[in-house]
Amino acid sequence: MQALALFLAYVLPLLSSASPNPGPRADVRTASSTAGLINPEVSAYAQGIIDSNLTPGLTLSVVRLNNNSVTTDFGAWGNRTEDGDPAQPDTLFAIASVSKAFLTSALGILMDDFAHGRNATALPHGVSEFTFDTKLEAILPDVWKLEDDFASQKSNFRDLLSHVTGLTRNEFMYTRTDTPLSLGKRFKYIHPGYDLREQWSYSNLMYLFLPHVITTYSGKTFQEFVTERIFVPLNMTATTYNLQQEKGVYWPGLGALMCLTPAWSN
Ligand SMILES: *[C@@H]1O[C@H](CO)[C@@H](O)[C@H](O)[C@H]1NC(C)=O
Ligand SMILES: *[C@@H]1O[C@H](CO)[C@@H](O)[C@H](O)[C@H]1NC(C)=O
Ligand SMILES: *[C@@H]1O[C@H](CO)[C@@H](O)[C@H](O)[C@H]1NC(C)=O
Ligand SMILES: *[C@@H]1O[C@H](CO)[C@@H](O)[C@H](O)[C@H]1NC(C)=O
Repeated sequence: MQALALFLAYVLPLLSSASPNPGPRADVRTASSTAGLINPEVSAYAQGIIDSNLTPGLTLSVVRLNNNSVTTDFGAWGNRTEDGDPAQPDTLFAIASVSKAFLTSALGILMDDFAHGRNATALPHGVSEFTFDTKLEAILPDVWKLEDDFASQKSNFRDLLSHVTGLTRNEFMYTRTDTPLSLGKRFKYIHPGYDLREQWSYSNLMYLFLPHVITTYSGKTFQEFVTERIFVPLNMTATTYNLQQEKGVYWPGLGALMCLTPAWSN
């Protein structure tokens, strides 16, 4: 079981760098622009963010699609340590809620597998398709339960991903030792703030729970699925869910006392 490692109120702590395949560290130049896509105007904008003290360091990647060819450029500005070591294009950052896009994409890829007969498991008896409009009750009949019967029966993937199930944030109902499944099984005890689709109300809960669908129907862990289906095809070799796997990367993060706690992994 993959435990939920929660980073503040964020969803799974996906770490990403700007560069998908960083070269040797010594060769990486700060604010480098090998393909010329990061022009002086973009560079000045990035430097302005650093100068305004909004953030100590940042990386930026620019991808240009042109006539079926892809050009990429990577830059970094500011510092990656409190000692003033410069940020590099391969400096890892916790990307917080940007990780939600990876979950949503992973679900779409899994749905596409079912649509094209590439699925590794079968849907429950009587369920003929798996799309963003499929109801959670159909896909996870033994797990999915909300306090409100109507919301429980009618909510679909689109509702969960769009923050309209009626459940509000409830950030204190889970801990680091929860799994997507153990968390989801307690949804039925949460009083909803609204009726289904009555009101948009931000909730991390559904994004913490939905990896269970990937695990159940792909036969892989969520992290394996995203790695195999998104990171590897896109050559995102410097992006990870597992800091322990990374060698020589630097992960600036916020510690328990809300102070910067830089941590070298080797
Ligand atoms: C992927 O990255 C590696 C370096 O990490 C590089 O050698 C390889 O050419 C890249 N593959 C593609 C398809 O870009
Ligand atoms: C686009 O690519 C095609 C095939 O490689 C080539 O013939 C064409 O000249 C290219 N067009 C431009 C504008 O580069
Ligand atoms: C980066 O480090 C240098 C050298 O220690 C320091 O002067 C500068 O203020 C730092 N910049 C930021 C944005 O923290
Ligand atoms: C793929 O899903 C369909 C629909 O549930 C099912 O009939 C089929 O057996 C599944 N394939 C595999 C390999 O489980």
